[in-house]
Amino acid sequence: MNDKQTGSFYTPRLLVNYMVDYALNKAESPIKTVLEPSVGDGRFLDVLRKQPCEIDAIEIDLNKIKKLQGSKNDNLELICSNFIDYAMNTKQKYNLIIGNPPYISKKTLSESEREKSLTLIREFKLPDPIFQNLWVAFVLGALRVLEKENGAIFFVLPFEFLQVHYAERLRNFLEERFNFIEIITFKESVFTGIDQDVCLVYLTNKKNNEPIVSYKTVNNINEFRLIEQNRIERNKPLKKWSNAMLHENEIDLMMRLSNKYKNINDFGKTSPGIVTGANNFFILNNEEKKGLAANVNTVPIIQKGSSIPNLLLFTKEDENNLFNSERKSWMLNLSGINYDDFSVELKNYIEKGVGVGFHKRYKCSQRKRWFDVPIVSPGNVIFFKRYDRTPKLVVNKSGIYTTDITYNIKLLEQYDGDSFAFCFYNSLTLALCEYNGRFYGGGVGELVPSEFKSLAIPYKRIKNSNINKLDSMIRDNVPLQEIVNFVDSIVLADLHKEYLVTLQNIREKYLNRRLKTNI
Ligand SMILES: C[S@@+](CC[C@H](N)C(=O)[O-])C[C@H]1O[C@@H](n2cnc3c(N)ncnc32)[C@H](O)[C@@H]1O
Repeated sequence: MNDKQTGSFYTPRLLVNYMVDYALNKAESPIKTVLEPSVGDGRFLDVLRKQPCEIDAIEIDLNKIKKLQGSKNDNLELICSNFIDYAMNTKQKYNLIIGNPPYISKKTLSESEREKSLTLIREFKLPDPIFQNLWVAFVLGALRVLEKENGAIFFVLPFEFLQVHYAERLRNFLEERFNFIEIITFKESVFTGIDQDVCLVYLTNKKNNEPIVSYKTVNNINEFRLIEQNRIERNKPLKKWSNAMLHENEIDLMMRLSNKYKNINDFGKTSPGIVTGANNFFILNNEEKKGLAANVNTVPIIQKGSSIPNLLLFTKEDENNLFNSERKSWMLNLSGINYDDFSVELKNYIEKGVGVGFHKRYKCSQRKRWFDVPIVSPGNVIFFKRYDRTPKLVVNKSGIYTTDITYNIKLLEQYDGDSFAFCFYNSLTLALCEYNGRFYGGGVGELVPSEFKSLAIPYKRIKNSNINKLDSMIRDNVPLQEIVNFVDSIVLADLHKEYLVTLQNIREKYLNRRLKTNI
């Protein structure tokens, strides 16, 4: 098995030292029993064994266990086992469970491995979808063998744990179980050479403690210099633990203001754009479209955010510019057309698609005719669900279709699309985008539908001259802060200046974290 299959990225020794010291210092009573659930080359043991405690070390790979046998002593037990099996069967309980569990995607695990983890997850009455990666099962396995009164779990976990949607139930569940949760994140990468952002998560129950989530950021593993520290007591359960990087009063302000305004959900119906199942096949550029005979049935479509320039109002003229570019902007729309009426070129194209196996793709295979793509009618306003620096919301003046990279909002009659889009670019809504959303490697932000729909919009009717001015500013790539200041001056004109500054600081904090830059 290779490193990816066994999730073997060993913890840097400096971090191991820090974690062991930290766990010893935090303990309120002496630590008598310790478990390392995925011991690898034993680097946690090297530090732990200096302590007067019993240590059990688990590892699935027999060769790794054999290598460690030589250094065995009386207070160390080496156990070759799958940790999930071990956790399900042992009666032993531990004061400290410490380590760096393997990060192995559910898809890479064998069926029987997956079933084991799911059994554990169901035992805790948690839903199956939280299991996307083996580290989730390791957290729950650790919980199962943790000493109730005097026990702590301290793991290196992927940073995504703090914010991904699928782990929200797990985070809430842990918030119910533990009254002291400490998260430590790093400004600089911990692992060199691999693209894996990590954090440390310490879970315990302290005596006489009001439940808190504490969040620390340190610079790197050479110094552990504290850059920022926050404690969240009131705003719990926190939807995302990464949001604990805000001060409690910043969250209070955002929530208070957010409650004053309507959510996107109140303005109309939001639905994702068209799911083709195979964009490469169904979405064509001019050349490809011509190749299928002049009159082939297509609808105009925006495939990617990058297909269109920065703008507020997407007009007929912008649509024409898109068509005149060599970008893919036509989607085959064959529904309701008899196969016999297809041109020879189109029939050949479809055969070619079958040759490639597009018809077997999940979405395509669910259709009566695999190439009949269900159409989602366009909304008045479109939002690109993934974004780089700034979330992008556009008024769909031309009525163009979009793929599922966007959410389409069909506004209720009483709302004006141009005003709605204008009002979106205010400090509160943009800060909420960061607070509600998550980001992926490379810093790309994303909002899932429920997170998008719950964004507050301080809506008001806006004069055309201001709408046109904002459209020009966005098209001219005016710095975002100027754009936001302009919108704030109209939309949040009543808000105290101090609050505006706080909202802007919140957004900056997230951007620094997400893009790892100083804006
Ligand atoms: C990320 S490495 C961590 C090693 C060590 N704890 C460290 O921090 O340097 C993960 C280790 O987990 C082991 N492993 C993978 N799946 C396992 C399982 N189901 N049970 C126990 N160990 C497992 C791998 O062989 C690998 O040695």
